[in-house]
Amino acid sequence: MNASLSLAEKTRAALVEGEFLRGDPISGDRYYSREFMQQEWDHMWTRTWQVGAVEAQFPDAGCVVTHEIGKESILMVRDDEGRIRAFYNVCQHRGNRMVECEQTKVRRLVCNYHSWCYGLNGSLLIAKDTDDFPQGNPVGKLGLKELPCETFGGLVWINMDPQAKPLRESLGVVADQLECYPMERMVRVMHMTAEVDCNWKVIQDNFNEAYHVQALHKELATFIDDDYQNTDFEIFNNGHSRMLMKGCLPAAGVKSKKIQEPLASIMRAWKLDPDDFDGRAADARLAVQQQKRKLGAERGYQHYDNLNDDQLTDYYHYTLFPNMSFTMAAESYQILRPQPHPTDPEKCLFDHWFFVIAEEGQTEVETPVGMHPLAPAAHEVFKHGDQSIGFVADQDLSVAIAQQRGLNSRGYSDSYLSGQEARVRRYHEVINDYIAGRV
Ligand SMILES: [Fe+2]
Repeated sequence: MNASLSLAEKTRAALVEGEFLRGDPISGDRYYSREFMQQEWDHMWTRTWQVGAVEAQFPDAGCVVTHEIGKESILMVRDDEGRIRAFYNVCQHRGNRMVECEQTKVRRLVCNYHSWCYGLNGSLLIAKDTDDFPQGNPVGKLGLKELPCETFGGLVWINMDPQAKPLRESLGVVADQLECYPMERMVRVMHMTAEVDCNWKVIQDNFNEAYHVQALHKELATFIDDDYQNTDFEIFNNGHSRMLMKGCLPAAGVKSKKIQEPLASIMRAWKLDPDDFDGRAADARLAVQQQKRKLGAERGYQHYDNLNDDQLTDYYHYTLFPNMSFTMAAESYQILRPQPHPTDPEKCLFDHWFFVIAEEGQTEVETPVGMHPLAPAAHEVFKHGDQSIGFVADQDLSVAIAQQRGLNSRGYSDSYLSGQEARVRRYHEVINDYIAGRV
């Protein structure tokens, strides 16, 4: 390969040449087989870092958040020393679930079955009739089963593997790249989960390619350049990857000479007159970047100093193995995350979180589902189709169920992928690496 190419160019070339790819088939059974689902659980879900909560949910000692993944429930709590710890949400007496709600605040963790009482550090403090245990007094001996827990980017991460590599090592270069965004100061203003009738990978595959954007998300072309030739794709170690898409830039296929919404509104918000850009829409991106540089600090966006010019307008879209997409913009980011269903490989639980850093004085912010108060959002859980989970995500989901059906067909044997979809196959290969014990 030509050594003078930039990293992004090299990666695009490598993707097209298939340098990273073995070509493992993406067979249909991966999406419906219970055996494959179990293999994923045994070798991948229980060995990879997951976002369990938002750090802002733990202002004080005793703040508890539970996180469900597959059949597991993980309990996170800020202890008396100020550290957030994670435990399996299971009493060590008879296996009863300790905390049934999603968020609470407690002084001690008490099982409601036989009143076993644990401290915030997980150790058993009180049990009834301690002299009646032939194996010995459980107090001082037993504790909730703890698992690795770390914080990064304003998020609480957990890993069911006691031997897990540290989070930063697992995220690799992605952690360094995310640090320029003020994630710790962003507020989760949208928090939704939809149960969808497809395997989690149907959704994750979709986030690993942008080939579908022109077909499914036609509206985006007025302000996002969706041409793959102008998009950078990069594959990193550990299954992570990213895609850089230019924003505030209409795609070449947009014929209108006038700037359209929502770009026109974005420009007005930055004191630019869209009419001044009639016939030269391609100049809007640079103009918005310059205005953000000029006016950002006075609006409270000091973090712009840490972003390069492209990051002021563009979407840096990360897929983090195994199931997260982080779409980073200059003033917001979103997490899209299909989670495995506890029992059914043909269902998943799809999370959509949206975070913002607001302008000074702002009390409401625009989210993918309309205006929301600038405050931590309550968790809305619903069946896919009952309400919107954001219009772009709705469009993605509009094909998910039909694809799930198609993947069940004897008429499907493997995907026939374009170069720009190489991350899809790479992702499946990393799943295979986990299952085969190569990771
Ligand atoms: Fe999409």
